[in-house]
Amino acid sequence: MPVFRGGKIPQKKRGLLGKEISRYWKGKRQYGEAENWCVKNTPFKKIKGIFPAIFMPVNGKPSFIEETAQAKGKPAVVLDWGCENGRTGKELAREYGDKVRVYGYSKDSYPSWAKAGGVKFIHATKEDLPRYLKNGSVDLIYSYFGLDHLSEKEGGLAQHLQQLVPKLSVGGKIALNLTDISLSLNERIMDEIQGAVVQSGAVMERENIVSQGSVLHIVYITRKK
Ligand SMILES: C[S@@+](CC[C@H](N)C(=O)[O-])C[C@H]1O[C@@H](n2cnc3c(N)ncnc32)[C@H](O)[C@@H]1O
Repeated sequence: MPVFRGGKIPQKKRGLLGKEISRYWKGKRQYGEAENWCVKNTPFKKIKGIFPAIFMPVNGKPSFIEETAQAKGKPAVVLDWGCENGRTGKELAREYGDKVRVYGYSKDSYPSWAKAGGVKFIHATKEDLPRYLKNGSVDLIYSYFGLDHLSEKEGGLAQHLQQLVPKLSVGGKIALNLTDISLSLNERIMDEIQGAVVQSGAVMERENIVSQGSVLHIVYITRKK
């Protein structure tokens, strides 16, 4: 079962870390070496500034995370899509304590997952991810340079988002960034996303922010029904 409880991974399962699940073949996982990504090890402090609508208090109201936990009377369920070495999720879990239940998801796994207490890691392909998430069970999926990879050469971002929306609770959100590689490409993708999310009963909002000198297109998707 490729779900690992950070901080409590038994020695014999640690050999499964440091691997990429490249694909499934005849029902079996095929493993390769985990990729060394250029964007990695991002501190949660930075993620807060990328997605302020989620993590910062707005107009004197508590942040989306705190408000959600308060309304539910139990921890908000949060998934870091493309969590890489797990640092962001670990720091998020530490900051919000018992207000959150944090999952990291990635097709690559890393030895540092063993030390990321407070986070459960799902190691699977994106095609298999929906199997791990119950419908209506996730309050927030955020992705910093994760889902963005499906917008370019790999493709399939809009279709994948359409599969993720039903996993959100009503009022739940997906927050992701897209890069400014080509505005025309991005605009086509924005239209595709918009079409896909509206069909699945969600709304999309977007804003542009400047981070380290480049423009990031930030997309927020909220499940409405
Ligand atoms: C650039 S890293 C993200 C870095 C991380 N969010 C951070 O800020 O430190 C990309 C992440 O997305 C995951 N990823 C990329 N393409 C993927 C795919 N097609 N399916 C599943 N995970 C993918 C990678 O395994 C990795 O964890």
